[in-house]
Amino acid sequence: MNRIRVNASVPYDVLIGRGILEQCGQLIIQNGKQYQKVCVITDDTVEKLYGETVMQSLQKANMTSVLYAIAHGEKSKCFSVLEGIYDFLTQNQITRTDLIIALGGGVVGDITGFAAATYLRGVDYIQIPTTLIAQTDSSVGGKTAVNTALGKNLVGAFYQPKMVLCDIATLESLDQTTFLEAMSEVVKYALLSGEDLFSLLEQGEVSSHLEEIVTKCIEIKAQIVCGDEFDRGKRMLLNLGHTIGHAIENASGYTVSHGAGVAMGMSVILRACVAHGLLSPADYDRFCKLLTTLSLPDHYDKASIKELVAISSADKKRTGSTLHVIVCLGIGKCEIREFTMDEFRTFLSQP
Ligand SMILES: NC(=O)c1ccc[n+]([C@@H]2O[C@H](COP(=O)([O-])OP(=O)(O)OC[C@H]3O[C@@H](n4cnc5c(N)ncnc54)[C@H](O)[C@@H]3O)[C@@H](O)[C@H]2O)c1
Ligand SMILES: [Zn+2]
Repeated sequence: MNRIRVNASVPYDVLIGRGILEQCGQLIIQNGKQYQKVCVITDDTVEKLYGETVMQSLQKANMTSVLYAIAHGEKSKCFSVLEGIYDFLTQNQITRTDLIIALGGGVVGDITGFAAATYLRGVDYIQIPTTLIAQTDSSVGGKTAVNTALGKNLVGAFYQPKMVLCDIATLESLDQTTFLEAMSEVVKYALLSGEDLFSLLEQGEVSSHLEEIVTKCIEIKAQIVCGDEFDRGKRMLLNLGHTIGHAIENASGYTVSHGAGVAMGMSVILRACVAHGLLSPADYDRFCKLLTTLSLPDHYDKASIKELVAISSADKKRTGSTLHVIVCLGIGKCEIREFTMDEFRTFLSQP
């Protein structure tokens, strides 16, 4: 089992390994605080797969536990479902000395984290992420959120978990598409961090190196997040490929998934970096080959750069006239640059 310490304002450990679900009760006790009552929040799909294992482990560790399952999918990350969670916590008399567990993907993690941050002004919570996105990204860093009718993640809080338990074995039940598309975020971490992870991915045997890959991603995320817990600087690096990626998701009417959008978005940025002499063609070539190895897309041909920048621009009206763009100067060498929308459009238009 690997252990990574996240040195946020309230430090916590991330444990990564196989068979962690069966031991979660014991691991919670070993984390140092005794809880009498635990409320597990999950979704209906994950409940069927892993609900019983987690509940049994908690009972074995003498914790009284209750479970609440929301419907799976992004639509559940909303106020009405959040209210259902608050009601369940109240009906089951969860108090500030009890514990909430988020068991599931990023949707469950984000909404449960927000419920934990706000119910009774804050109750301890633990993340048990079961998707690749949740294990490598959303469970670490303390960003919690719900969507509103007008936008994603518009309401939320920074609220760090007391511990994160990543059971690699849970990734085996994910469908292949969900898994592969999440690999684009892993490629993002490789571009941000360097040779170590990049060359591991180039070997192409992702499933036999999953524990190592997830561990490396969490190390990188933890390092970036600890330097900028509240997202005012360095944490923006994690947005590599995301501005154009979001615009592609939007332009496709959300038929392109987030992961595929990020892969295409990174490709657009890296091509522009090569065109401006910032990135070597050899590094760009390695990036393209890696996307091919992982069956990830590198082109979106249904919208022009001009259209995509226009979508980003509309999106950015809320935050002012400039945009922070993450550029890539080499594998493991990315930096934040500030562009006006015009500069961004010019940057992306190949000379
Ligand atoms: N807080 C953050 O820093 C952060 C970072 C990245 C993404 N996110 C958020 O995460 C969400 C996306 O996360 P996601 O991709 O995990 O989505 P998700 O939670 O919707 O999970 C995807 C699907 O997989 C199912 N599932 C979960 N675990 C499974 C398993 N082990 N086996 C089989 N099926 C399983 C779920 O029921 C769901 O239908 C978005 O809402 C996004 O905004 C947050
Ligand atoms: Zn992302």
